[in-house]
Amino acid sequence: MKFIKPYLFAFTALLSASCTSQKEKPSLKDLYKNDFYIGTALDLNQINEKSKKEDSLIRKEFNAITAENIMKSMYTHPQKDKYDFTLADKFVAYGEKNKMFIHGHTLIWHSQLAPWMEKIADSTEMKAFMKDHITTIVSRYKGRVNSWDVVNEALNEDGTLRKSIFLNTLGEKYLANAFKLAEKADPKVDLYYNDYNIEEPAKRAGAIALIKKIKAEGGKVDGVGIQGHWKLESPSLEEIEKSILEYSALGLKVAFTELDITVLPNPWDLKGADVNQNFEGSEKMNPYPKALPDSIQNKLAERYASIFKLFLKHKDKISRVTFWGVHDGQSWLNGWPIKGRTNYPLPFDKDLKHKKAYDSILKLKETKK
Ligand code: G3I
Repeated sequence: MKFIKPYLFAFTALLSASCTSQKEKPSLKDLYKNDFYIGTALDLNQINEKSKKEDSLIRKEFNAITAENIMKSMYTHPQKDKYDFTLADKFVAYGEKNKMFIHGHTLIWHSQLAPWMEKIADSTEMKAFMKDHITTIVSRYKGRVNSWDVVNEALNEDGTLRKSIFLNTLGEKYLANAFKLAEKADPKVDLYYNDYNIEEPAKRAGAIALIKKIKAEGGKVDGVGIQGHWKLESPSLEEIEKSILEYSALGLKVAFTELDITVLPNPWDLKGADVNQNFEGSEKMNPYPKALPDSIQNKLAERYASIFKLFLKHKDKISRVTFWGVHDGQSWLNGWPIKGRTNYPLPFDKDLKHKKAYDSILKLKETKK
């Protein structure tokens, strides 16, 4: 007994120390709190707090939220004279309850429109739609939503304007109009232009021209949202860095708004592959249906580390970094561009366990302490 006691004491001390360190393990939002917001995109179940485990992870790790779908126009404005704010209200209340930065996604986007909107054919009707839609939604959340994607994805890959229903009916002036309407409804809220691939040179030049034009026409643009749907090998850090510098030189806040990194092959990366070919069920296109091999897990961790290292270098220019989803199981990349695949693009896996990617992002800050 004489000998056992000190061992027992040491063991108990060790156990309690390890429990404390488990409990006190820092989170993404805590470690990056002086740098930029760390956000996530919530699906319907998460907004409805369906899973306690997911909910506590969200609250522990993130201090900014975006609704992955339910604030899009088909959900908020299903009929011409009918708005439905049931889900959007819940989403905003969730953010307020948890003292999170709340981002609104999105006001003017050609995709996920309600069917009635797709029938708008002339400029008078479109002008009326935009005024009513933007004013009603932004006013409802005035002082509660912290920033809005006013216009989403207005550009083609070569930097020219996408021939959307908005451009077709109103011409280029729809862009400045949207920003003016949003500012009028909530003069203090931050207004963003949001798009994917706008870190690539041609599309970036298009985004810069577009934002300059909106400003020249009297629209208030506070920031640019680089979506960040990226791959293991591209875009290069050089292009991302150039983008941060060029956008911030326009006086804009730079946000990374939909960050995820696919680890799966894309049909159009395969030489000679026909994009219309059906790849569903193909082993070649879904190489890791059960688990991600360590080698790729490590690559993903390295990629995230190098990206966050760059973000930290430019933290004075970056307002927010938001992951597009909480965990791998929820990611849109399991269904796009090929349905039914298993992708691993986020720092948490489908069982909510943190991956090496998560550790690599935390480590950048822990070593600096
Ligand atoms: O709500 C219906 C459900 O009732 C139905 O049973 C189910 C059957 O497929 O579909 C559900 O709707 C899906 C919706 O997500 C909600 O889960 C749509 O089919 C599906 O197309 C939709 O996909 C979303 C996509 O935007 C639509 O364009 C993704 O979840 C969402 O992650 C994605 O997000 C976009 C950003 O808004 C803008 N930037 C690109 C990004 C990725 O595409």
